[in-house]
Amino acid sequence: MEQVMRNTFLYLSKSKSLTKMARKYGLRFGAGRFVAGERIDQAVKCIQELNQKDLCVTIDYLGEFIDTEKEANEMADNSIEAIRAIGTENLDSQLSLKMTSMGLDISEEVVMKNMRRILDAAKEYGVFVTIDMEDYSRCGKTIDVFKKLREEFDNVGTVIQAYLYRTVKDMEDLNQYSPNLRLVKGAYKESPEVAFPEKKDVDDNFKKIIEMHLLNGNYTAVATHDDAMIEYTKELVKKHGISKDQFEFQMLYGIRPERQLELVKEDYKMRVYVPYGTDWYGYFMRRLAERPANVAFVLKGIIKK
Ligand code: FDA
Repeated sequence: MEQVMRNTFLYLSKSKSLTKMARKYGLRFGAGRFVAGERIDQAVKCIQELNQKDLCVTIDYLGEFIDTEKEANEMADNSIEAIRAIGTENLDSQLSLKMTSMGLDISEEVVMKNMRRILDAAKEYGVFVTIDMEDYSRCGKTIDVFKKLREEFDNVGTVIQAYLYRTVKDMEDLNQYSPNLRLVKGAYKESPEVAFPEKKDVDDNFKKIIEMHLLNGNYTAVATHDDAMIEYTKELVKKHGISKDQFEFQMLYGIRPERQLELVKEDYKMRVYVPYGTDWYGYFMRRLAERPANVAFVLKGIIKK
């Protein structure tokens, strides 16, 4: 049953027509638990509250599956607005964004143009930018974009997903860039031809890439809500005497907030991924797919209305 629900939400997350419809109707169905708001001022307030609790942030102006250059340029403008807000409000925040929102499905030229604009602004305000990783069909292209940008900018990183078979090879290949990587399990529905179908194998590969990246001396963001992976990382850094300056934990806004604060209390760097904007639909569906318990929460929200 859980698997059926998971697949259904992941299938729904890819619907372009529902994405467009959701954009029109505003934050609904309890999505506000995972999304800071639709406007930048709401996101800024949310970041200020998190920063006051010593939580760092990475802010994401939500957007995916953009298919016109005009929209991609507008998405880039919104990310630049977020960068300026980080700078002028003196927020402890980075920026995250998806390459399909910058025009990856249109052309590499459009993506590179938008990303150069964003990274120039980010450099000016001292903001680090992480390129989120999307579904398998875009993984190779996203890594290629990252490599090109990394040759020009040092304030850019990307994400590597433990569930893909190609991941260890990608990490070996990327090591020459000394990349700052966010390591995750992976959030999309992928075929067993390209991704481990069993959770245990994903977890084992996750541990393997955490170890690889840390022991290669690279900055590592371990992005997970899974206590087993957090404990594994803590043990690993202790065993190898790795400094707390070389890694951080990351979690999503609205998920395990009390655990986030515990890690801060234990003196670990903890970054919260804070999404905002009108394009909340796909992001919200993926969060529901991760945890069917969240569906009960949504249903309660609908009944209350
Ligand atoms: P797992 O799914 O095994 O969950 C472990 C435990 O965490 C659960 O038992 C539950 O207690 C809790 N939990 C997990 N998800 C929850 C939820 N939605 N609601 C409530 N509790 C939950 N993926 C991707 O493909 N590309 C990307 O760019 C990113 N970026 C990213 C950034 C950050 C900061 C995070 C934390 C995650 C991502 N992800 C991602 C998502 C990631 O791939 C993965 O889908 C989720 O983190 C869930 O996997 P966990 O590692 O948390 O473990």
